[in-house]
Amino acid sequence: MQHDAIAVVDFGGQYAHLIATKVRRQRVLAEIRQPEDPIEAFRGYKGIILSGSPSLASHGEDSDYTKAIYDLDVPILGFCFGHQEIAKHYGGTVVHGGREWGHADMRIVRDHPLFAGVGSQARVWMSHFDSVTAVGPDFEELGYTMLGDSGVHRFAAIGSDKLRRYGFQYHAEVDDTEHGDTMIANFVLRICGCTPSWTMEAYLDEQVERVRKQVGDQSVFLLASGGVDSTVAALVFRQAIGADRLHLLHVDNGMMRKDESADVLDMFRRFGLGNNLHFADASDEFLKALEGVVEPERKRRIIGDTFIRVFERMARELGIEGHLLGQGTIYPDTIETGGTKRADTIKTHHNRVPVIEEMIAAGKVIEPLADLYKVEVRELGERMGIPGELLWRHPFPGPGLGVRLLCNTGVADREGIEGVDAALAEVAGRYGVRATALPIRSVGVKADLRSYEHPVLISGDVPWDRLQEAVGVMLKSVPGINRCIWNLGGGAPANVRPLAATMTRDRLDLLREADAIVMDGLRRHGLYDDIWQCPTVLVPLELDGRGSEFCIVRPIHSERAMTATAARLPDVLLAELRDRILGLPGISGLALDLTSKPPGTIEWE
Ligand code: XMP
Repeated sequence: MQHDAIAVVDFGGQYAHLIATKVRRQRVLAEIRQPEDPIEAFRGYKGIILSGSPSLASHGEDSDYTKAIYDLDVPILGFCFGHQEIAKHYGGTVVHGGREWGHADMRIVRDHPLFAGVGSQARVWMSHFDSVTAVGPDFEELGYTMLGDSGVHRFAAIGSDKLRRYGFQYHAEVDDTEHGDTMIANFVLRICGCTPSWTMEAYLDEQVERVRKQVGDQSVFLLASGGVDSTVAALVFRQAIGADRLHLLHVDNGMMRKDESADVLDMFRRFGLGNNLHFADASDEFLKALEGVVEPERKRRIIGDTFIRVFERMARELGIEGHLLGQGTIYPDTIETGGTKRADTIKTHHNRVPVIEEMIAAGKVIEPLADLYKVEVRELGERMGIPGELLWRHPFPGPGLGVRLLCNTGVADREGIEGVDAALAEVAGRYGVRATALPIRSVGVKADLRSYEHPVLISGDVPWDRLQEAVGVMLKSVPGINRCIWNLGGGAPANVRPLAATMTRDRLDLLREADAIVMDGLRRHGLYDDIWQCPTVLVPLELDGRGSEFCIVRPIHSERAMTATAARLPDVLLAELRDRILGLPGISGLALDLTSKPPGTIEWE
């Protein structure tokens, strides 16, 4: 069957693929196109959407794309960078400035088919440095955002019905934009006039067919962590090539949760995949390779490389070297690793390290879920009969606790925080809290670019909403910081000192205990399903001479991991965590991470 389709032009924004997913959710096929593809590649679509980008439209970056798309007689909608490019192309002005992150309140100027069913305002999600300050003669302003009491931010949404060109400064594709799905549906169904006919069953059929073709008469050796992705991938492979030609390898890298490997092996046996199920306890090898390593990206690469070394050795031992490497890679793993042509590397996911990239180029890797987000993987898993309690387990990253156990040289890193203390103190004073920028760094993402900046420890007892507001203001207005955490351990510390620490079994055991306490708390309080993921992190920080490990709990709400908001935990649970975690040997303090993504990432590294 021929489907109506939309082309999504991938300028390298973190959410380009998410746009395609959101269009597909309207049962309309969406395909990713590169900006420099020849104009022929854009023909036949019923509409085009331009994604965001890490580039700056104000500086003319990335302006060398196939502009002939603007001559096509189909509707075009741009998000963020795409919005700015459309404004510029039709005579508007884009300047460097007017940045916004996170939520903004948009007022809709008039009834318009793009906003049918939305009402007169919506909370939208922003992540930009540049802004549109004027539009060309055929365009009108369709929406603006409010800037607190200090006025309005113009041109959050623009359009020209005559040209059928539209732009949103915000990201309608992320789940945090209220009615974002409706706006996308309005564009695709009303403005472009697509007929909805594309389904998840169609996707599964296409993948099964693709796997059969790529595998031919070979077999697949799947790296199976036992998370949702590798479990669903295993079942797709089984459906495509049968259980006999599918080997599974589960590796204990020493950075798993408490008792996890045994549970994972049991699960695969229950799925009838026990015959070709192999297990390697490689914890010594991983820890040896990580000895003395501090830098987060190096840690990630070493973990990824070690996985492949173990995989290749096991394949040799089993006499199956010729097999294709199967992975349950999903789309965020690729995009955050900078895996599309223009995307910035936010962090290198373990299944996207250079050795694997080389194997991919040589056609030795097969990844049936690489176009999907977690929510779609779960939907697919549901259709394949995987029980809900397995599908809805919290995602656990491939490098496991390795990205949650921060390492340090023991030298305080104050670069970039000198000078921000005054700005922080000013905001903190306004909200009746104390704020200290910590002398360490964590990874974040700002306007589609990686950031490696300082977390801020906030101390003080203020109501949750006020705390959230203080965090929002600090992250927006203070440079050099990308995360705010709330001190659960009492008053503001006078002395915070990083200690030299690397990845050791003892530290991992301590983190396993803390993590088990948090997971147990979420389950007992009936919050496990409501919360999307909840990393527990240890940082080698001494507070006022107490303990050597600072513990941070990071509960979040999310749907696709590309954006997230901090989740609130009830006071009784916080009190319980305080008692139990502060009671662990060597713990110097406990905090709750209050940062949305962006500007933080979900994991600290
Ligand atoms: P971030 O920290 O980038 O995480 O906001 C987004 C989601 O991806 C998970 N994550 C990983 N998953 N290999 C994985 O399989 C990795 O290397 C990796 N790094 C992060 C993270 O737990 C979150 O769900």
